Amino acid sequence: MPCRLDSAAPPATAAPAAALPEALAWIEADLDGLRAEGLERPARVREGRQAGAVRLDGRTLQNFGSNDYLGYAGDVRLTKAASKAACAEGFGAGASPLVSGHSLAHAALERALAGLLGVEATLVFPSGYAANTATIAALAGPEDFIASDERNHASIIDGCRLSRARLGVYPHRDLAALDALLAAARPARRRLVVTDTLFSMDGTIAPLEGLCELAHKHAAMLMVDEAHATGVFGGRGSGLVEETGTAAGVHVRIGTLSKALGAAGGFVAGTATFIHWLRHRARAWMFSTAHPPGVAAAATRAIALVAAEPERRFELLARAVDFAASLRHRGLDVGDAEAQIVPVMVGAPATAVALSERLADEGFFVPAIRPPSVPHGRSLVRASLSWLHDQRDLGRLATALATHAR
Ligand SMILES: Cc1ncc(COP(=O)(O)O)c(C=O)c1O
Repeated sequence: MPCRLDSAAPPATAAPAAALPEALAWIEADLDGLRAEGLERPARVREGRQAGAVRLDGRTLQNFGSNDYLGYAGDVRLTKAASKAACAEGFGAGASPLVSGHSLAHAALERALAGLLGVEATLVFPSGYAANTATIAALAGPEDFIASDERNHASIIDGCRLSRARLGVYPHRDLAALDALLAAARPARRRLVVTDTLFSMDGTIAPLEGLCELAHKHAAMLMVDEAHATGVFGGRGSGLVEETGTAAGVHVRIGTLSKALGAAGGFVAGTATFIHWLRHRARAWMFSTAHPPGVAAAATRAIALVAAEPERRFELLARAVDFAASLRHRGLDVGDAEAQIVPVMVGAPATAVALSERLADEGFFVPAIRPPSVPHGRSLVRASLSWLHDQRDLGRLATALATHAR
């Protein structure tokens, strides 16, 4: 459905770069290093709204480079909810939630999220990145120990660094290694285990039952990040904790409103007492302006749509399973992908960039993922599937990948 607010303004052309002042001249050398390693990144400009296809840098491509898993990011129903709230409550939040930025729209969103997740309370942050860094740094300090999966998202890694806790990184999904780390960390004041539930680069799923058992055995806190699973997994669409029936063993759940929910912001979910305490300890919540009320209203609308349109997540996951199977069948290395994120492993950054360019020539945007998003030697192209893609789109992409990925 077209949106009357759409503007057809062409993207601005970037001004030529000025020479760096002496004090910043070292940056040129750093950029040269990135170029030499094949790690320089373009600043792409998108025109128009998110959809199954996207117009990027003047080319229209099938969009496999977005986290818009359910097709809500460009949905006019969210735009309308946002405009209505912006008209009622103004555009900017004006202050941190702690002061006067917490609007009726934010309060409604926190209630809707608590209903979706089946928890007592939730706390909304301006981003998922802020939710992770603030919560980890609130839960653990220098006297504590954090065990973190080696493939956790950067926002988890940065939260661990911010906490100044002792850190143990365990091999991806390796419960035996985690068991040993936690046993050795018994003298720490507190132990925290933190993991993505659906890993953002590999499309792999954390062993939640085993993690709950280990957290219980070692009296550790268990925090999970459902960023890519929210809206996609579970009977109600709340994520993998719901899907696996592990809510009782998971102490803290993080999620984002920015991916399947098509809006922006992050959230933390748990008991009312935990959330009340977090309001006094989560610095990114206390010292950052709340995101705009219109954004909160759009996210609330998306939560209602997730409930009303369950077929979107079921169809997406069924197509994703078929797509990964067809790539495996064609001899491509998709690792242990088992969800709507499907990587094709290639190894070197330059190979990933070249493959992504070949796919763009064929009409597909499938981004190259390189260090620091993945470890050195593990570059890949990542296809993020959306409900907006049909079987035909996926079949054509599978053929293009099979042709160019060898
Ligand atoms: C696993 C994970 N957690 C958190 C985030 C951050 O979420 P946001 O984009 O809302 O800041 C991301 C974003 O890519 C993510 O992949």
